[in-house]
Amino acid sequence: MSKKKLVALTGAGISAESGIATFRDSGGLWEGHKVEDVATPEGWERNPKLVLDFYNERRKKALESKPNRGHEILVELEKQFDVTIITQNVDDLHERVGSTNVIHLHGKLFESRSTINPSLIYPIEGWELKLGDLCEQGSQLRPNIVWFGEAVPMIEVASIIASTADIFLVVGTSLLVYPAAGLIDYVPDRVKKFVIDPQKPDILHVPNIEFITEKGSVGLAKLKSKLGLSFS
Ligand code: APR
Repeated sequence: MSKKKLVALTGAGISAESGIATFRDSGGLWEGHKVEDVATPEGWERNPKLVLDFYNERRKKALESKPNRGHEILVELEKQFDVTIITQNVDDLHERVGSTNVIHLHGKLFESRSTINPSLIYPIEGWELKLGDLCEQGSQLRPNIVWFGEAVPMIEVASIIASTADIFLVVGTSLLVYPAAGLIDYVPDRVKKFVIDPQKPDILHVPNIEFITEKGSVGLAKLKSKLGLSFS
């Protein structure tokens, strides 16, 4: 009997307990910076060094951080379910803890990309990407991150996966940024959705939702025991 499909949409909140700042909570990542200066193509054109420094700082932070219990539980659920993680996060904590099926909607912090040929993608060893770091065709490398206003290449794949879920989890995202936030609308009405977050995101229009208003590690532990009972 094949395993039921569990799809988890994760956001910055699942990395909060690893010490990585979220975006919109107080003291969040956007408070120190203007989004348009560090996370848009226009900001990159205006001042690429500022953008490179912003992501270098985030890479340093990610290297100092480690996966938390919430990340671990999503791996443990792979014993019982066919788990796909669709993350808005650019850190590699899901992979570092052993999740085997992770889709990054907004790119990857530890990858760079050519500015003249987007298919040229390179791993970033360590924390630094500098002006003068060039692709094999001689153009400046940029963070392999989806900036505001740019296409989200993986959104079609992600929406198909969401539409095939037997269970859908939302963990640690304010669901304010589209198209990622729209994925929940691809999940069939009959499919149970669990939303784990200390704050209730505004998705009251979505049927068949159960809110677990806890932080990720606690909410996922509660969910795991719930699922253990109903899908034994
Ligand atoms: N456990 C679970 N959820 C938490 C925790 C925690 N310990 N701490 C905070 N949260 C929740 C907040 O209540 C909020 O709902 O995590 C969510 C964080 O929301 P955002 O900061 O908006 O992060 P996210 O939803 O991932 O942002 C989406 O916006 O800026 C862009 O590209 C960026 O991927 C990001 C996207």
